[in-house]
Amino acid sequence: MDKLCFFTFILLIMSNCSESPASESAAYREAHRPQFHFSPDSMWMNDPNGMVFYDGEYHLFYQHYPDSTVWGPMHWGHAVSTDLVHWEHLPIALYPDSLGYIFSGSAVVDWKNTSGLGREGQPPLIAIFTHHDPEGEKAGKTDFQYQSIAYSLDKGRTWTKYEGNPVLPNPGIKDFRDPKVFWHRESGRWVMIFAAGDHVQLYHSPDLINWAYASEFGKGTGGQGGVWECPDLFPLPLEGSADTMWVLLLSINPGGPNGGSATQYFLGDFDGTAFRMDPAFAEKVAADTASGNPFWVDYGRDNYAGVTWSDIPETDGRRIFMGWMSNWDYANVVPTQRWRSAMTVPRKLLLKNTPAGPRLFSRPVEELEQLHTETVDIPAREVVQTMDLSELLQSPSALLDLSLSLSWEPGQQPDEIALVMENNRGEQLRFGLNGEEYFTDRTAAGKKDFEPGFASRQTAQRWSTFNGLQIRALLDVASVEFFADEGGVAMTDIFFPSEDFTRLKLELSGGKVQVEGGRLFALQSIWQ
Ligand code: FRU
Repeated sequence: MDKLCFFTFILLIMSNCSESPASESAAYREAHRPQFHFSPDSMWMNDPNGMVFYDGEYHLFYQHYPDSTVWGPMHWGHAVSTDLVHWEHLPIALYPDSLGYIFSGSAVVDWKNTSGLGREGQPPLIAIFTHHDPEGEKAGKTDFQYQSIAYSLDKGRTWTKYEGNPVLPNPGIKDFRDPKVFWHRESGRWVMIFAAGDHVQLYHSPDLINWAYASEFGKGTGGQGGVWECPDLFPLPLEGSADTMWVLLLSINPGGPNGGSATQYFLGDFDGTAFRMDPAFAEKVAADTASGNPFWVDYGRDNYAGVTWSDIPETDGRRIFMGWMSNWDYANVVPTQRWRSAMTVPRKLLLKNTPAGPRLFSRPVEELEQLHTETVDIPAREVVQTMDLSELLQSPSALLDLSLSLSWEPGQQPDEIALVMENNRGEQLRFGLNGEEYFTDRTAAGKKDFEPGFASRQTAQRWSTFNGLQIRALLDVASVEFFADEGGVAMTDIFFPSEDFTRLKLELSGGKVQVEGGRLFALQSIWQ
């Protein structure tokens, strides 16, 4: 072996050693590894679980199978962050036990120690989750899912399962899972909302242990193309008014607007017992349901099972959401090696009045701005066919944060306004506005043979009538999160190019636009 070969050999050995979690940063440069989105160190991940803020830390638990890169017996993986951007992997929090696998659920701080599980002066963290008994399922029973709790007295580092589990046995409903719990101040009790097949059920409790039936919502309402999963329920102020509305998030699989898994929402009121849709919103849902199109948190194919953080301090006041950036249509076969899937970036949810009525808006949290490295102002100018945006940057980057404002003369809207990410292999990812439809298009964005329907084009109806377009887009190695009309429409999609996309351009078909301005940022990895 000559000298050069020997050094190459040593380098190769070193890079293989870097597969161990001890030297995370080297391993985290694997093909398709997201650089500013949370992904597990290794093996399988699906839904975010138990998101709770406590003592300066945002906890993120997640559905995890530590023995394989495909779904299997579920555990709760665990990570914490102090800034919603950088994550520290922690040991697995909850393991399957004699009652079954640990399915999705939530976590709260039991500030008043209503459960009695705290220690003097120290409130317990309580995780509320579904136990799924695979034996019962195999035997064809209907009562194999039930709700259980576990508690932690050391900032979520270790957990003890409550000895009286399950706290909510199954009354004979096959799909009976994904509890989200919150404290309802007005009625002074805990509320649990969970999915029960084609609807949600609500229970309440004084102590997180004894639960009583309160109400149900949703039979025959909204998207019904699949099973309901992972609900969330919370109040949000309606911007520009003194009103507050309650938002019910509800994931459904299949039956999403562009196929497979997706998350819809309902707006209404909650009195501590029952959720009722706002009458005007209910009318629209009823009309839209007929055409199979209720209201969606995200119209892309890769934002599922998303819920919001509990116990965000009132001084912060945000409602922060995170979803699983995949889709059950292909989650188990996407072409990554050591791990499978990532989460969306954390997003702030807002309720805003629009000409079409109140709508849910989402925007990436501001904390992400700390990742900006190079910043360029996009100059105002008229664009007829195309404008190269990435050439404005000094060094090409696959990690981009784009804000762009365009306008056009009435009647002059181009047939298509596309943002195009490209690499040197002729692969490209497109997203933008075509007529009155937003779209993301990954039909030519790289690897696609792993699943016949993966190479798809997604659409979302535009409701804004503004003669212009405001775009925000976050591009990571393997995903785009596209927000239009200030976050009124969101589309999240993953892709697997055979080489990073580092060129970004604006491309018009017909017509011309005025670029009013914008900014392009290159981002740094969170895994350094
Ligand atoms: C949603 C879901 C949940 C369930 C979990 C199992 O993606 O199907 O309903 O609790 O995943 O991993």
